[in-house]
Amino acid sequence: MITDPLLQQKPEILFTEEQIQSRIKELAVEINRDYANSEELIVIAVLKGAVLFVSDLIRHLNVPLQIEFVRLASYGDNTKSSGKIKPVDLTLPNLADKDVLVVEDIVDTGLTANFFIDYLKYYHKTKTLKLASLLDKPIARTNHINVDYVGFEVDDKFVVGYGLDYKGFCRELPYIGYYPGNDAE
Ligand code: IMP
Ligand code: MG
Repeated sequence: MITDPLLQQKPEILFTEEQIQSRIKELAVEINRDYANSEELIVIAVLKGAVLFVSDLIRHLNVPLQIEFVRLASYGDNTKSSGKIKPVDLTLPNLADKDVLVVEDIVDTGLTANFFIDYLKYYHKTKTLKLASLLDKPIARTNHINVDYVGFEVDDKFVVGYGLDYKGFCRELPYIGYYPGNDAE
């Protein structure tokens, strides 16, 4: 049984389904243009949060691509970064000389993205390496990281929906919202 009272409420909408889908199409135009000459793009989605974003994004890409998944965890059950990355699954094929695009749901403190990009740089000699994130929360950044493709910027709210969870729930929502009073700070 769900006992958290927040989960009984409907989140306030920040970005509607229509806004998200149209922004994803714009990002795809940019990505298609940037990778127009790519022989093969490897799209690596960071689970679990990026699952909805990546599946909608790749439908608009017209570059020959393969999709891979890694699973990294950094958050516990609360709305604050635990400050530690738990690599749950980093199984990847050989990425030598490949164009690689990492797809994240949100770059918050930057710890997760930073960890993974450094990991790829250290263990894989990719041809190119870029990062796409549906959301960017620059105000929370503690680790510098360059995000090449950003869907939307958000301020210091703990957001849910469209892949992002609160206590494991809400990922299925087609929109992005927040619970008033449940701020990230
Ligand atoms: P970072 O390492 O602090 O940049 O955050 C990494 C992960 O924390 C993201 O990929 C999300 O899974 C989760 N996260 C950060 N901010 C939020 C949020 O506002 N809502 C839900 N999950 C978040
Ligand atoms: Mg995530």
